[in-house]
Amino acid sequence: MSNRFEGKVALVTGGSRGIGAAICRRLAAEGADVVLTYGGSKDKAEAVAEEIRAMGRKSEALHCDASERGATAALIADVAARYGQLDVLVNNAGVYPLTSLAKCSDEVWDQMLAINLTAVFEGLRAAYRVMSPGGSIVTIGSVAGDAAQMPGVGVYSSSKAGVELITRAAGREFGRKGIRANVVQPGPIDTDMNPADGQNADLQKMMVPLGRYGEAEEVAAAVAFLASEDASYINGTTLKACGGMTA
Ligand SMILES: NC(=O)c1ccc[n+]([C@@H]2O[C@H](COP(=O)([O-])OP(=O)(O)OC[C@H]3O[C@@H](n4cnc5c(N)ncnc54)[C@H](OP(=O)(O)O)[C@@H]3O)[C@@H](O)[C@H]2O)c1
Repeated sequence: MSNRFEGKVALVTGGSRGIGAAICRRLAAEGADVVLTYGGSKDKAEAVAEEIRAMGRKSEALHCDASERGATAALIADVAARYGQLDVLVNNAGVYPLTSLAKCSDEVWDQMLAINLTAVFEGLRAAYRVMSPGGSIVTIGSVAGDAAQMPGVGVYSSSKAGVELITRAAGREFGRKGIRANVVQPGPIDTDMNPADGQNADLQKMMVPLGRYGEAEEVAAAVAFLASEDASYINGTTLKACGGMTA
């Protein structure tokens, strides 16, 4: 493993489980100090932070409910002030309400947009204010942001289409300050959100040319690339980690 993030401070939202936890481990393995947030999974988040400290990096797990207006922005300002820098932001926290459009309640819609879209908007804006040139932002979208591939996914798709575009817009607007912003769109990844033996799993496997779910670590590798100086001329774009699902 290389040391692409030596001396860097990274913040990963929703780092307690799944893809977020894998991103935290990957950035730390490559030298970053990593702050991670959690909503409900305090013990899991603290275990990830402990693992990272055992690697010899600084790490802390902070509660930050992404559905609460202002919480993500306040968290970013606090971390940047306490660490004296913020080099990498990964907007990862998300929820996946599987519901038909016709049956989606106002509460589900509002909660999903607050977590999947508004918190990302807050994260982008707050990161711009605290990041120095060389900073990098990666947002976790989804191939569902390109197409509502299955019944029930369309409500979620709308939020993931939104985060893709707002992140690419950030790449356009923040580029002048030397801050890059890119999107990773995973396909089906085996996590609590979308287990490889769960509802619609066989259908999703059939839709992927590689014929399998991805692992969280495979998404983390794509995120680490985009966040690193190896991607220094890659900005305002989308990298799909989906086994060819959208080919
Ligand atoms: N798995 C897939 O197939 C797949 C495919 C494409 C895109 N994605 C995207 O990848 C990202 C991570 O998903 P995952 O598969 O790793 O899901 P996951 O295993 O369900 O993990 C979701 C993460 O988001 C956090 N989170 C959810 N609501 C939150 C809130 N209100 N405040 C703070 N944190 C919150 C969770 O933290 P707590 O448990 O601490 O609340 C957890 O760390 C999401 O944006 C998801 O949409 C996943």
